Amino acid sequence: MTPKIISHLTLSCCLFLFWFPCVHSQMYPFPYRQLLDYNFYDRSCPRLLMIVRYNVWAALKNDTRMAASLLRMHFHDCIVDGCEGSVLLDDTKDFKGEKNAPPNRNSLRGFEVIDNIKTDLEIFCPSTVSCADILTLAAREAVSLSGGPFWNVPLGRRDGITASQKSAIEQIPSPIEPLQNITAKFTSKGLDIKDVVVLSGGHTLGFAQCFTFKRRLFNFEGSGNPDPALDSSVLTKLQSICPNQDAANSNLAPLDSSAVRFDNVYYTNLVNNAGLLESDQALVKDPNTATMVNLYSGNPFLFSQDFAASMMKLGNVGVLTGLNGQIRKRCGSVNY
Ligand SMILES: *[C@@H]1O[C@H](CO)[C@@H](O)[C@H](O)[C@H]1NC(C)=O
Ligand SMILES: *[C@@H]1O[C@H](CO)[C@@H](O)[C@H](O)[C@H]1NC(C)=O
Repeated sequence: MTPKIISHLTLSCCLFLFWFPCVHSQMYPFPYRQLLDYNFYDRSCPRLLMIVRYNVWAALKNDTRMAASLLRMHFHDCIVDGCEGSVLLDDTKDFKGEKNAPPNRNSLRGFEVIDNIKTDLEIFCPSTVSCADILTLAAREAVSLSGGPFWNVPLGRRDGITASQKSAIEQIPSPIEPLQNITAKFTSKGLDIKDVVVLSGGHTLGFAQCFTFKRRLFNFEGSGNPDPALDSSVLTKLQSICPNQDAANSNLAPLDSSAVRFDNVYYTNLVNNAGLLESDQALVKDPNTATMVNLYSGNPFLFSQDFAASMMKLGNVGVLTGLNGQIRKRCGSVNY
């Protein structure tokens, strides 16, 4: 054998010997994995949970309302074609995505919190953690730091590379559409009527802009009068926060009477005809959902437990795994 052939053979053997175990120890468990996994980043980014928790804690310390904002952003991400971080994508000259679709524009908040987490993660574990996973974890931290339940989040979502403004307009539930329509949007994602009631309970946190419920205060269904289903003292209070002028459209009213605490007051408000949005109050008009509202209004622990379960279902909607999608370097743009 000539030295050349020997070295060639040696190289092939080495390649065979070393490459094969490599495929198994590194390649196989990481990019080809098709299911989400609680330990997905344990080795590749052990500081992940601490970094997310610290940033969400700091954001809430500065602005308690941010908890609701992060929860809502995760919901709007998942409900439109899945939890794949597309809601975070900035528009460009040639690309119009979800972020500036009418249900989100001038309304979603917290992009800077996600960006700060991503910046920290890119220092400790570059190109490793998806923006979709960051958003899912941030929503969990926001709930748990506000007094809500803690649940384990399976990880390994990958980031989407497409998004459509049209889908966002069509798929995000609106506060003025009927319960049947909202339920249809949920069931089309594999969620059910219980998830509608439970995830609506996310409105235990946060505020809504006046334009989202103003017609209940002044001209309900074209009647020229307020919504008769709204408690009269609540009506008076809301009319003072939201006078009937366009200039007041972006004023804020709390979604429940304890807007920075995760509790079951949202449901007791509904039972007392003090729900803010039409889509909230509608839950006590349908006998099936009213039964659940009554149950949760009397049992905060059951609500917490069911909320965690519905959030885990939500976090699985339309996820990209394996070799689909990508791990974005910046959450606002796809990698090229
Ligand atoms: C704190 O919250 C306010 C809004 O309430 C926001 O304008 C500001 O940027 C936040 N500051 C930091 C450091 O996050
Ligand atoms: C509710 O859904 C029905 C059937 O898809 C549709 O015709 C109707 O316009 C929807 N209503 C609203 C307010 O979106």
